[in-house]
Amino acid sequence: MPSALRDDVYRRPLSTALERLGVGPGWRCVDVGAGGGDVSVALAEIVGYEGRVYAVDSDPRARDEAAKAAAEFSQVLCITQGGEDLLLPELVDLAFCRFLLMHVLEPKAVLERMARASRPGGWVVAQEPITTAGRVDGLAMSMPAARHPDIGALLPALMRDVGLDVTDAWAEAPAGAGPGPVADYLESLTGVAPGDAAVVLPPLVTVVGKVSDG
Ligand SMILES: C[S@@+](CC[C@H](N)C(=O)[O-])C[C@H]1O[C@@H](n2cnc3c(N)ncnc32)[C@H](O)[C@@H]1O
Repeated sequence: MPSALRDDVYRRPLSTALERLGVGPGWRCVDVGAGGGDVSVALAEIVGYEGRVYAVDSDPRARDEAAKAAAEFSQVLCITQGGEDLLLPELVDLAFCRFLLMHVLEPKAVLERMARASRPGGWVVAQEPITTAGRVDGLAMSMPAARHPDIGALLPALMRDVGLDVTDAWAEAPAGAGPGPVADYLESLTGVAPGDAAVVLPPLVTVVGKVSDG
């Protein structure tokens, strides 16, 4: 999927999350399951050269893609590593993931590593979908290839279960009808153009978890 497309369609939930959290210059962040690097680049622009962004992905090809996308940002370090094995050279202020936990074998194990990678008083933010709450022409969407297509619906409890203090949580869903970025995005996901049908993409549930101050 072209990464710019994903960035266009789900950009609003991402900026809502980063703004509510107050991410700013100098922050140290990790983007786990960075994929094409959209989030890593967005974070790099915000944290600036005094900050740092670790773009981590278990797939070396994704790591290379993220490295290409972030080539002009020396504050981005791209690493091939599974979220289950997350280990960074320093503690971060923010451990972030989007569209990752839906694919991994053990989402809680990844969230635990993300919490451990964050400094005391730092943040873990996850954005995951409720795929079957998406609609095309009124009918429920599905994503059989994902291990946990509806994990967004469980996310607040999962974050709490790994010991994080859930300080904020909400859902946002891009929607549209006819030609446009929402239809293009759906076609890129499914290979089928929705034509003039009304589309509500899977709501992305954002959960903000605070790591205990120690
Ligand atoms: C759907 S993409 C999401 C990319 C990006 N987070 C975004 O929102 O645009 C999922 C990414 O997670 C990576 N991934 C899957 N399982 C992983 C794991 N256990 N640890 C780290 N990355 C993983 C995949 O290689 C892929 O690049």
